[in-house]
Amino acid sequence: MKHLLKLMDLSSTEITEILNLADQLKYEKKNGIEHHLLKGKTLGMIFEKSSTRTRVSFEVGMYDLGGSALFLSSKELQIGRGEPVSDTARVLSRYLDGIMIRTFAQAEVEALAEYGTIPVINGLTDYCHPCQVLADLMTIREHKGSIQGNKLCYIGDGNNMTNSLIVGGIKMGMEVSIACPEGYLPDEKLMKWAAENGTFTWTTDVLEAAKDADVLYTDVWASMGQEAEAEERKKIFKGYQINDNVMAVAHPDAMVLHCLPAHREEEITAKVFEAHANEIFDEAENRLHAQKAVLVKCLA
Ligand code: CP
Ligand code: NVA
Repeated sequence: MKHLLKLMDLSSTEITEILNLADQLKYEKKNGIEHHLLKGKTLGMIFEKSSTRTRVSFEVGMYDLGGSALFLSSKELQIGRGEPVSDTARVLSRYLDGIMIRTFAQAEVEALAEYGTIPVINGLTDYCHPCQVLADLMTIREHKGSIQGNKLCYIGDGNNMTNSLIVGGIKMGMEVSIACPEGYLPDEKLMKWAAENGTFTWTTDVLEAAKDADVLYTDVWASMGQEAEAEERKKIFKGYQINDNVMAVAHPDAMVLHCLPAHREEEITAKVFEAHANEIFDEAENRLHAQKAVLVKCLA
């Protein structure tokens, strides 16, 4: 695997291989088995948006693998003052073994990969969040025993998470239903692709989408970069919430996932969040293991 730019670039076999390696690395870490598979390698981590999980899990992941990581804030890089991505890519390729980037435009991540000569890993763009969904799939498999055949229901804004969940879910044989308001849908091409390649439905009816779901998923109503729309979005998304009514129509053993950070009483009630905190924090932990697998696949 050269890069991880978006999940659409991976086959279901490649996704399964990443998840298998992630399980192995998790087992080894829990049992104190050293795995210095990236000894002496350095990852540069460019952040143009905030992060808790992505930053810490990549940094700790590189350390666990015997390498090191550099935190590069766009505020301090010349990229923040207008140096072209094409030049940044060629310069960083001379120093580093890989780049993880969190930014706005997907095109910037693709350009970094095009002009650079080292692997590029997408740590979230406005378009997608592939690392998160690999951790989500890992968590679903851990809790449910398998991925295929489960119904995944996403409720809320049709954003970067929705795009990656649709691709990851369909590629791994899940039924995917989404409840999103009109005008706030995920990528149109991805919705069409999902309908042609699996079982995919969109509705504005939250309860209809959640019916018999095995996995319920939600994300913030206003993503990073949409802060100015937050108040307006609170009105638009009212009701697009995982709460007791939604849990009542889902499968009795349904699990609840959230990429975090969560806004209680907006996209999810505090009650449902706490009842499923074990799953949600396993999911957050699995960012570390899944990304270590991605790092090994790309950098080793
Ligand atoms: N879920 C996620 O990507 O979290 P951070 O924004 O904290 O990295
Ligand atoms: N949709 C959210 C995901 C955060 C992990 C955002 O882009 O802010």
